[in-house]
Amino acid sequence: MKYGYFDDDRREYVITTPATPLPWINYLGNDGFYGLISNTAGGYDFYRDAKLRRITRFRYNNVPNDIGGRMYYIKDGGCTWSPSFLPAGTELDSYECRHGMGYTVFTGKKNGVNAKLTAFVPLGDACELNRLEITNDSSETKELTIYSCIEWCLWNAVDDANNYQRNLSIGELEVVGSTIYHKTEFRERRDHYAFFTVNADVNGFDTDRDVFLGARRAWDDPIQIENGTSGNTVASGWYPIASHQLKLTLAPGEKKSYVFQLGYVEVPRDRKFESKGVINKAPALALIGKYNTDARVEAAFKALAEYWSDLLGIYHLESGSDKLNRMVNIWHQYQCMVTFNMSRSASYWETGTGRGMGFRDSCQDLLGFMHLVPDRARARIIDIASIQFENGSTYHQYQPLTKRGNADIGGGFNDDPLWLVACTAAYIRETGDATILEHPTPFNNVEGSEKPLMEHLRRSINFIVNNKGPHGLPLIGRADWNDCLNLNCFSEEPGESFQTFGPSEGPVAESVFIAGMFVKYGLEYADLCEHFGSKDEADSVRNEVGKIKKATEEYGWDGEWFLRAYDAYSHKVGSNECEEGKIFIEPQGFCTMAGIGQEKGYGRKALDSVKKWLVNDYGVEILAPCYTTYHVELGEISSYPPGYKENGAIFTHNNPWVSVAATVIGDAEMAFDIYRRSCPAFLEDVSEIHRTEPYVYSQMIAGREAVHYGEAKNSFLTGTAAWAFVDISQAILGVQPTLDGLSVKPCVPAELGDYSVTRRYRGSLYNIRVTREAGRSGLTVNGAPVEGSVIPVPAAGSRVDVVCYI
Ligand code: BGC
Repeated sequence: MKYGYFDDDRREYVITTPATPLPWINYLGNDGFYGLISNTAGGYDFYRDAKLRRITRFRYNNVPNDIGGRMYYIKDGGCTWSPSFLPAGTELDSYECRHGMGYTVFTGKKNGVNAKLTAFVPLGDACELNRLEITNDSSETKELTIYSCIEWCLWNAVDDANNYQRNLSIGELEVVGSTIYHKTEFRERRDHYAFFTVNADVNGFDTDRDVFLGARRAWDDPIQIENGTSGNTVASGWYPIASHQLKLTLAPGEKKSYVFQLGYVEVPRDRKFESKGVINKAPALALIGKYNTDARVEAAFKALAEYWSDLLGIYHLESGSDKLNRMVNIWHQYQCMVTFNMSRSASYWETGTGRGMGFRDSCQDLLGFMHLVPDRARARIIDIASIQFENGSTYHQYQPLTKRGNADIGGGFNDDPLWLVACTAAYIRETGDATILEHPTPFNNVEGSEKPLMEHLRRSINFIVNNKGPHGLPLIGRADWNDCLNLNCFSEEPGESFQTFGPSEGPVAESVFIAGMFVKYGLEYADLCEHFGSKDEADSVRNEVGKIKKATEEYGWDGEWFLRAYDAYSHKVGSNECEEGKIFIEPQGFCTMAGIGQEKGYGRKALDSVKKWLVNDYGVEILAPCYTTYHVELGEISSYPPGYKENGAIFTHNNPWVSVAATVIGDAEMAFDIYRRSCPAFLEDVSEIHRTEPYVYSQMIAGREAVHYGEAKNSFLTGTAAWAFVDISQAILGVQPTLDGLSVKPCVPAELGDYSVTRRYRGSLYNIRVTREAGRSGLTVNGAPVEGSVIPVPAAGSRVDVVCYI
């Protein structure tokens, strides 16, 4: 069953009912100011950091769980309704929500009135625009009253939700004309405020929630709206909101348009006030002036569309499959932008108050983002590397506002350092910009500790070399990619964090997954040395890679698949000898990608075992059989009921690893089959089972042993976005950046037919046609055959015509 459809021409998913199984959301904003917006206009806004600089309030665990956000009411006689269905909740005559690239458009109709609400964040400015267009489609004159409303968050979203003894006394506002300024804490240490305005004279306003709603009333039924009044209140303490009241008369066929703007400004500390206690409004007025007419808003909306057209023109596929085209050309890349911006911080599943930017998460997000905005990728790599410790290990997370490592979580996740190598190498393959390796980058943000980025990569590599266990395999530390495989934790008490409890290091527990990573990324580092550093270092790293490869073949192979780990007692994890958790997906994917045991056919065997044990209707499960009891020596992984999360769900992030691995052993059918199974557009028809948005990946889909097999959770913020795009665009469709230029080496099943890709790469445009012709293989570049698969980089600005015969 579907709840909407894809409109590929407009790059939108069109939701045709407000009653989706869960709120289906979108993201507004690309750089600094962000809004989350659901298909009923719920959600919240923040500036840079969803915890520390929250602008509007969101209630977690609310019932229904999506009340709040952008609240618009239209009062038409005795009937009050919302263009996005909520908050009024009045049944609409028609409803539509179009989630597009950085914007969402609602159209609601009721009793002959048509209301269109367009929400977006204009490029380069810290504000959200809501344009409300109201048309009278009926044959009689309509006397309408519009109410807007947003609820302010008192900046720090954690304090806002728990420190009421303080909060309820600190709220402060100013109201001037149609603009409501939220200035809580501006009197003391904050140099920023927010405002909510509309480009029309208002008939009334409210900023005191209790006066607007009335006693014991909720957002669907404010007393002021019932009475057709406004309280004209300026709140002091309690719960500040911002609501406008606008009365309008519409003749039949007449239309009126309003622009509401929610903005955020920062003011220099020495110019905070106009007069005692009165905030300096100059920066707000400047921002308001930029978007106070329909024409200006339309121009900004057009600029946003052009921005996305440009970005999505960098990699564009034309194939016979609509589903594949829409994922590759639109939604994979869009989700990569979102994960780049958010890491795992703010979604409808991540509160924005918990996790900051993850080290490994952000490094992997970059893998799918590099080509879109390389400059931002470069800056991010440096930010991430700056939280690394001198010994090569690193903080696991940092807060985006401060960019400092997050001491609550600390470090000790031993895969982290290698992801820095992965993203830096990918950045150079994309851009050819090796100067990043020289960029002076501090350790742990300590001034004076700066070393070239290359030194950070070296320490990442050396960290693994210097931290091996009894079998010569890398020590796992607190955990590797699988945060829930906590082999040194031994937690017995509820409430202890599996990620921080117990020693961060253990001298015995080893990870076969990190071994696979080291072989893959160690070789990528060696290539960087060879190209841009020293041949001797390249040789010595390859030598270290050889040792870990050998150790993995000797001690990391279980006979039919790769082992997952050795625990703190040196017992095998992920072995046929185990009763539960016999086989794990991660090492099958990574060790095969890394080519470990290739000559012995390990990759083929491992992937056959994946098929036999782990593949289900919707993807590849993370392990089997699931753990049915808690294992203190394994940690969080065994804390989940069978079939959920790391205990046997399809943890979609690692499905592309298996798919890429299949391309490494030349199994095109398996590669595409694995890609397709968990791919959102391919699951659209079972949206009632899947339940999350059919245009983006969710972190997990419950596995066969779960009660709710096939149900997805945690949509949007998952490393799957980047990896799925790498998988399909580079490994399967075969258009892959290398240090020496673009390589074209598809691994596609025959069912996909011929296709073409246009790719902008290092300043040139490549038109690539992939075709099957009996008896022909290889590449022609501008009509001439070339050796191998790599196209030497032409002068920037070239057009390169490539035909690839397969
Ligand atoms: C985390 C990742 C981790 C994954 C698997 C996610 O929630 O953000 O860092 O690799 O879970 O445990």
